[in-house]
Amino acid sequence: MDNLPIEWLGDRVRIIDQTRLPGDEVYLELDNYREVASAIMELKIRGAPAIGIAGAYAVALGASKIEPAARDEFLEKLQGVIDAIAATRPTARNLFFALERMKKVADSGENVMYIKKTLVDEASKIHKEEADATERISEFGAELIKDGWTVLTHCNTGPLAASGYGTALGVIITAHKQGKNVKVLADETRPLLQGARLTTWELQKAGVPVTLITDNMAGHFMRTGKVNCVITGADRIVANGDAANKIGTYTLAVLAKENNIPFYIAAPTSTIDPSLKTGEEIPIEERSAEEVTHIQGVPVAPEGVAAANPAFDVTPHEYITAIITENGIIKEPYNKGIAGIL
Ligand code: MRU
Repeated sequence: MDNLPIEWLGDRVRIIDQTRLPGDEVYLELDNYREVASAIMELKIRGAPAIGIAGAYAVALGASKIEPAARDEFLEKLQGVIDAIAATRPTARNLFFALERMKKVADSGENVMYIKKTLVDEASKIHKEEADATERISEFGAELIKDGWTVLTHCNTGPLAASGYGTALGVIITAHKQGKNVKVLADETRPLLQGARLTTWELQKAGVPVTLITDNMAGHFMRTGKVNCVITGADRIVANGDAANKIGTYTLAVLAKENNIPFYIAAPTSTIDPSLKTGEEIPIEERSAEEVTHIQGVPVAPEGVAAANPAFDVTPHEYITAIITENGIIKEPYNKGIAGIL
């Protein structure tokens, strides 16, 4: 990708429309928070860290458009902006991590002009920190990948989803850059095909050999000895190490354990939510049935059939071999490791 997946242009935010990839590289310039909120809901921008970054810029945009007002009135209106952005997608911790930081900055500012400026600064800071974190995650994680390995991954966790290097994909691409002969099996990731559309696209650009498989092939490749490790990202990791990620991740983790294959999660500490004790407490986004009954707008099921569409599932910590963060790699006991790393 020649341009950045998300970029602040001073008075607007520019994103690549991920729903148009890989066919068309279309960039959108969004100059108000409602447009950014819609882009998040419609998955034009997606992936936990990228949602957080976009959410932070949306707050800065929303603040900039609030008409001259006294500080209290301004903060009240800004809360409305923050609430609207918070309502876009419930599962990724990174969105709430970013919104909480933005709110804290707003609350501590003395006057409206100053708050508007510091909100832009804070959003840029969050963006930079998330991008920098992916570089360290990639370096730590690449140590775990051995020369000659085939790595199975799910959904999309590259620069599109996280900025910088990406998380799970950053690990794989970094191992490849280190000269290791690494191959990837990429799950297509139904219903919205982030693996087929985005992961293969990013890996091809990075020159990493990738083979696309349908989600239901993963067990076959694990059982026949074709997979050396599984690595995915996460949307929310809780205090005991349970982790929510794209629907289908739990299935992979169980299959990996059954076949004695290490299952790694790569995620920044902004994905960790220590306020939740177990994965049972993670809110799981339910998306429209049409995403299941249709593929890219084309119906694949009889009209009117019911369809379920939970966008994420939770992998209990006992299936996770290690969690790779920018502050280091955590293993069981996760309670201790997570508290230590934060
Ligand atoms: O619904 P999405 O496409 O936003 O889901 C994304 C994922 O599940 C990713 O695996 C996760 O956010 C990690 S992104 C580095």
